[in-house]
Amino acid sequence: MMKDELLNALECAKAQIRASRSSAELKEVRVKFLGKKGVITQALRSLGQVPPDERPAMGRLANDIRESIESLVESRENEIKKAETEARLKREAVDITLPGAVPEVGRKHLITRTFEEIERVFSNMGYQLAEGPEIETDWYNFVALNMPKDHPARDMQASFYVTEDILLRTHTSPVQIRTMQRMAPNLPIRIIAPGRVYRRDDDATHSPMFHQVEGLVVDRGITFGDLKGALLAFAREFFGEETEIRLRPSYFPFTEPSAEVDISCTMCRGCGCRVCKGTGWLEILGSGMVHPEVLRHGGYDPEEVSGFAFGMGVERIAMLKYGVDDLRLFFQNDKRFLEQF
Ligand code: PHE
Repeated sequence: MMKDELLNALECAKAQIRASRSSAELKEVRVKFLGKKGVITQALRSLGQVPPDERPAMGRLANDIRESIESLVESRENEIKKAETEARLKREAVDITLPGAVPEVGRKHLITRTFEEIERVFSNMGYQLAEGPEIETDWYNFVALNMPKDHPARDMQASFYVTEDILLRTHTSPVQIRTMQRMAPNLPIRIIAPGRVYRRDDDATHSPMFHQVEGLVVDRGITFGDLKGALLAFAREFFGEETEIRLRPSYFPFTEPSAEVDISCTMCRGCGCRVCKGTGWLEILGSGMVHPEVLRHGGYDPEEVSGFAFGMGVERIAMLKYGVDDLRLFFQNDKRFLEQF
């Protein structure tokens, strides 16, 4: 009778242990069978009521069953703990074997780098940095530079007007006037003025916003030879020792005489190729001797002083130096392009 009860209890215990889903549930099952008031404990206590000749066998059976339940609980406990750990790892989802996230390191934009290289070359020649506003008056942008209203040369620089008298500057040349007014009557003036300029153009070689570097030198006895010497020194320092320059007669209302400056082609060293369209030369800037009227607007006497000025397009120069074939790449912020420099 008691034997059947014990064997039955073992079967119940097995089933309930297997069905336990947590440590707490398992603990309850254990108490139910092996606790002070547990089925097995009770059976062992009541061994006294068993006939003496059956007692040893019954005692052994009860003890065996207790040990079986004990060890079943223990192994189920291990399974549950393992499953709980796995579930937690899955939830937290940290895979420490994955490579770490490398922080991205930024870099200077190619235009900024080109600005800095141009500035380095000229500051080594004794030039100071100057600045002017990007929103400029019609007077500084045009009139003071010998382009009164109705002057046909204004057509070359399609402008963004804010009001009739205020516009986004179309070139850095107004900084010439602002610098002379700030410096007059002191000599010498030797500055470069880097900055943004704006024109109503937009294609593969023109952007409505682009960058220029203006240069201005004013002193007693400045000649066209000084202009050529300064620009040759710049070209060789910036593009390489073997670079040659060529001056072509040109026209700007604020310089007289004026010259367009070419460098020998950086790709073919002047032999003629696709980049220089077979000519061997690449145009890089406009320049000339400061017009007497412009000196006067700046507060200087053209009988006493003379000067030269130049203005270069930074995108164009960067394209030539680094072999970039579309100006729009500078402003699309495509990291595959930007990371190359
Ligand atoms: N400002 C002229 C331009 O943008 C360039 C220039 C500057 C020419 C200085 C002569 C002297 O085209």
